[in-house]
Amino acid sequence: MKKIDIQGRSGKSTIMVGEYLDRLTRYIPSDNVVLITDENVSRLYRKQFPHAPVITIGTGEKIKTLDTAGEIYQALLDMDAQRSSFIVGIGGGIVCDITGFIASTYLRGVPFGFVSSTLLSQVDASVGGKNGVNFKGFKNMVGVFNQPDFVICDLNLLKTLPQRELLCGFAEIVKHAAIEDAGMFDYLEKNNEKALKLDVDVIEKLVYDSVRIKSGVVNRDEKEKGERRKLNFGHTFGHAIEKTLGLPHGESVSLGMVMAASLSVQKGLLSQKDARRITELLNCYNLPTRIDFDRRQILDALKKDKKRKGDHIHFVLLNGIGSCLIEDIAIEELDRVMDSL
Ligand SMILES: NC(=O)c1ccc[n+]([C@@H]2O[C@H](COP(=O)([O-])OP(=O)(O)OC[C@H]3O[C@@H](n4cnc5c(N)ncnc54)[C@H](O)[C@@H]3O)[C@@H](O)[C@H]2O)c1
Ligand SMILES: [Zn+2]
Repeated sequence: MKKIDIQGRSGKSTIMVGEYLDRLTRYIPSDNVVLITDENVSRLYRKQFPHAPVITIGTGEKIKTLDTAGEIYQALLDMDAQRSSFIVGIGGGIVCDITGFIASTYLRGVPFGFVSSTLLSQVDASVGGKNGVNFKGFKNMVGVFNQPDFVICDLNLLKTLPQRELLCGFAEIVKHAAIEDAGMFDYLEKNNEKALKLDVDVIEKLVYDSVRIKSGVVNRDEKEKGERRKLNFGHTFGHAIEKTLGLPHGESVSLGMVMAASLSVQKGLLSQKDARRITELLNCYNLPTRIDFDRRQILDALKKDKKRKGDHIHFVLLNGIGSCLIEDIAIEELDRVMDSL
């Protein structure tokens, strides 16, 4: 097991990569614990949960709402949960985002932790202290910055994850390597087969490296005023694709990274060869790198991007594998680069 600490404004958070769900009792109080999970995780892993009341929510982005939060507050009230209670979310990004939001707001805040059960939540969603829910179709509109006391990344849980969910996690892993770590990028290239088979040493290293990179960025810029923006590499186009074509997040980000790499080449920052390495790596992880789309639709979605400032957008570009910078890019310029797909 490997540990990484995040020093948030609201306190220290320890992320444990390679710890196990069935050792959760070591990290929680002996009573007044409430568990929050979803139907799938409950069906698969309930037997390994510690003895404590469980609130089970449904699945899918559509349930990440204030209505679901309301039902959880009610359940907490019904079981007479107090300020001294401790809440643990056991699940993927949706369970963790909702649990963090609930724990940060119920009775003005109770301590909480996560057992992260998807690759995406281990390498991304449960690192960094952003918690929240969607509102009227707008993603993560209502929420708080607040760090859990701990995050357990149990790599065994990934074995039951559907393949498509696994790939979403690999897209974020490639992103972390591309923006910060050329060595990790090489490692991803050399070990793709083992990684896809969830070889324990390889997956532990990749989850650990991702957490290390993301938590380093978060430690320096918890509230996304500057450096944290670089975690949006591939996400400007990615979000536009996700919204217009309805592809899963990781697949959209994969396509977004291809476009961002092309734009980096167009700006003379990245070599053609390195851009090709990115596309090839994404292909090795069975992520899409080409797609038919309606340019107008994507452009319209880009114009609605939250990070837009007038005609420009903060955009993360690569100036080499493992190195990035943020530039303001005119939306028109983004239009041109779409030819690359
Ligand atoms: N807070 C952040 O910084 C942050 C960052 C990235 C993403 N997110 C959020 O994370 C969410 C997506 O997270 P996700 O991809 O983990 O989705 P998810 O929580 O919906 O999980 C994906 C699916 O896998 C199932 N599942 C979970 N663990 C399983 C396991 N071990 N075995 C089998 N099935 C399992 C779930 O029930 C669900 O059906 C989005 O809402 C997104 O906004 C948050
Ligand atoms: Zn993402």
